[in-house]
Amino acid sequence: MLKTKQLTFLTDLETQAQDWTFNGAPTRELTHCYHDYPARMIPQVAGKLLDLFAPVDATLLFDPYCGTGTSLVEGLTRGLNVIGTDLNPLARLIAKAKTATPDIEKVDEQISKFNRFVLARKSKFLAESPDIQGISRLEFWFKPSVIENLARLKRFVDGIDDESVRIFFQVAFSETVRESSNTRNHEFKLYRYDEEHLKKFNPDAFELMAEKLKRNRAGLQKFFAIMRNFKHPPTANVYGFNTAEGIPHTEIARASVDIVVTSPPYGDSHTTVAYGQYSRLSAAWLGLDEPDKIDNKLMGGKSVKKISAFECTPLDSALHEIHRVDPKRALEVSAFYSDLCNSISHVAQVLVPGGYACYVVGNRKVKGIVLPTDAAIRCFFERNDFVHIDTFHRSIPNKRMPLRNSPTNVSGAMDNTMTQEYIVVMRRKIPRTLRDKRQLLEKIGVAARTTKTTTQRAPKTKSA
Ligand SMILES: C[S@@+](CC[C@H](N)C(=O)[O-])C[C@H]1O[C@@H](n2cnc3c(N)ncnc32)[C@H](O)[C@@H]1O
Repeated sequence: MLKTKQLTFLTDLETQAQDWTFNGAPTRELTHCYHDYPARMIPQVAGKLLDLFAPVDATLLFDPYCGTGTSLVEGLTRGLNVIGTDLNPLARLIAKAKTATPDIEKVDEQISKFNRFVLARKSKFLAESPDIQGISRLEFWFKPSVIENLARLKRFVDGIDDESVRIFFQVAFSETVRESSNTRNHEFKLYRYDEEHLKKFNPDAFELMAEKLKRNRAGLQKFFAIMRNFKHPPTANVYGFNTAEGIPHTEIARASVDIVVTSPPYGDSHTTVAYGQYSRLSAAWLGLDEPDKIDNKLMGGKSVKKISAFECTPLDSALHEIHRVDPKRALEVSAFYSDLCNSISHVAQVLVPGGYACYVVGNRKVKGIVLPTDAAIRCFFERNDFVHIDTFHRSIPNKRMPLRNSPTNVSGAMDNTMTQEYIVVMRRKIPRTLRDKRQLLEKIGVAARTTKTTTQRAPKTKSA
């Protein structure tokens, strides 16, 4: 019989297994330190999902809303090939940088060159002001001395020949742009500092960039230390397709993905997190596509004329309630869930039978009514032949996102919302014929690929 002490120990283990908070855990290890981003997933959540649900012989992870690539990095360090997609070009650039292993000697060579460039900066003058597409009032967002320095930094970065080294520098430059701009840095939307603050605000873009490079170089080294253990290093691909419209099967074949780990946006960009706005200044300086037009393209960005019947009772009831108080708002909300529903129907097809889909979501409020996104995800997957495995609850200790929003859309009317996240885990059913074949193989002692159940993964490392 178990003694009390042993019982307490077991209960502690159980509690730990259920604890998804990771309060105080370091979230900026490895290449996760490269760049801030709104509503980033914390690496520990992605890592734990992979450890719990990726079968030992899994080879491919997909993130349909990869943002800066948190789950991709966690997948790579566990030996999985990873594919991500995101409509935001800045997020894609960061995700590419975080999942790349550039030649570290070449990175160091450029960093030394950069440090010499920083020392010599006073002797260089720019003849003309830079042409930055996508920001109509450059002087409103940057002080003249900052514009001049950013233009010099940009010229340095653009002059780097090696693409993966250049991307490493571009990411450091992007954060430098943001932090040396006149925007209130602790906010994701673009708000200018007040005049009083601006009088005292004299950022040194050169110093800022040198600090970022140093920090990111240290993160890269740690990432390298893990990745070099793989005999066959896993691959990473980051695309810009919209899963709500479809998945190009040239990039991801049907039934090829072992696990999806993702965090979709909490709602449309206009009323939740403005990813486009957050990225605008950096994207414009980097010359990325359409810095101003992203938000309309993201989930729920396009208007619909009719509220869909989702045949998901909790979601349909919430939409009905919102419609009673504000029909226009109900249409906007409905547009978001239509996109989510379409996206899931496409994601469902690329998962292998027996594969897992793990969605980390928040249930936001609109007009004071809670939108049950966790339940909606479950419904949408169930109609695509998935079974519900579990929904874990996670209290958010310090996620950088608007914890207070305006559920009424009335400026100043605030509500505490989204202090909880839901981690919905679904599994694709295994068709009867496949199950029978599997049972037969098991009987004769041959383990089929899809027979694996949840197991701890061990990295596929080189032998010592
Ligand atoms: C919550 S963030 C993901 C953050 C990411 N897990 C990370 O750790 O950086 C949601 C992402 O979804 C992207 N997004 C929104 N609508 C999209 C769509 N239709 N297709 C692809 N990406 C989309 C946004 O650009 C944003 O980067």
